[in-house]
Amino acid sequence: MADLVLGVESSCDETGLAFYERGVGLRAEVLFSQTEIHAPFGGVVPELAARDHVRRLPLLWRELQTRSGLARADAVAVTTGPGLIGALLVGASFARALAFAWGVPLISVHHLEGHLLAPLLEGELPLPAVALLVSGGHSQLIAMRALGDYQLLGDTLDDAAGEAFDKAAKILGLPYPGGPALAALADQGDPRRYPLPRPMLDRPGLDFSFSGLKTAFRLQAEKLLPEDMQSRADLAASFQLALVETLVEKCRRALEQTGFKHLIVAGGVSANRLLRERLREKLHGAVVHFPSIRHSTDNAAMIALAGAVHLAAAGDALSPCRVRPRWSLEEL
Ligand code: KG4
Ligand code: ZN
Repeated sequence: MADLVLGVESSCDETGLAFYERGVGLRAEVLFSQTEIHAPFGGVVPELAARDHVRRLPLLWRELQTRSGLARADAVAVTTGPGLIGALLVGASFARALAFAWGVPLISVHHLEGHLLAPLLEGELPLPAVALLVSGGHSQLIAMRALGDYQLLGDTLDDAAGEAFDKAAKILGLPYPGGPALAALADQGDPRRYPLPRPMLDRPGLDFSFSGLKTAFRLQAEKLLPEDMQSRADLAASFQLALVETLVEKCRRALEQTGFKHLIVAGGVSANRLLRERLREKLHGAVVHFPSIRHSTDNAAMIALAGAVHLAAAGDALSPCRVRPRWSLEEL
């Protein structure tokens, strides 16, 4: 019985490895964030990301073995998309080499499915559920009917929620990654001071669009004096509230439309405190589930877990492992 799965994650700017054992849970994980490498450029540089994954994976692999006391697994699961092509190829080559050397199955994992299944690392997955996936690259609402049965309900027409946070932070001159920095500044501000638009709330449907909000924010920011710290905090707070209220309202509509009683929130933006508070306060009759903060952002534990789930379901009939920078969840 193949019970122990090694997970490999390298789709963007985090390098991660983890051992997950079916029936036992997470055995050990290691994670390295490249944030400092990309910070001087104000965003992820794909070529630098791929190169650092190459350097980092062997070091992390040694560290994982030391921490866990384990030296091999019964299967290897790797993120094969969506993500940065060079970064994905590094992880896939590393995973393929280990699987080949050990003579064990190689399991291809969709990165977003990893995020969706992350709550399973700490508890149960309450299906059917609506999932809100909000990260630097994605803003999606998904109907999760069963494992592997995912329907896209809404998507962003322009920027992802995390990207909007990052761009607004950059306009205010805050350091990268902007989301946490903007949220920290917002804590000191009055969110009612600047009335910013709540995008797409006047229209039916579950799609998002954040470019109008970003433009309104920019126009307001350009009027501020750099030394006026209180106004900058007020503007950050007003922006955060507008974005969070939009996300919460779309979640409410998605729950109403599907009749589901559970909401799963995943992706880096789910770490946002105001979003967590508002979702819990405003969605009456629904239970809101968050993965732990550690497993909300990119990690290999969720990839190993997703691999274990696939292995249990598919046995030997695993799909071929090829990287796909663009890959819709609905194709699973
Ligand atoms: O899921 P993630 O770690 O990486 C991917 O994009 O796949 O998400 C990163 C995003 C960034 O845009 C970051 O600014 C945002 O999540 N983020 C936050 C917070 N923490 C991270 N946005 C708002 N508030 C936060 N506390
Ligand atoms: Zn992610």
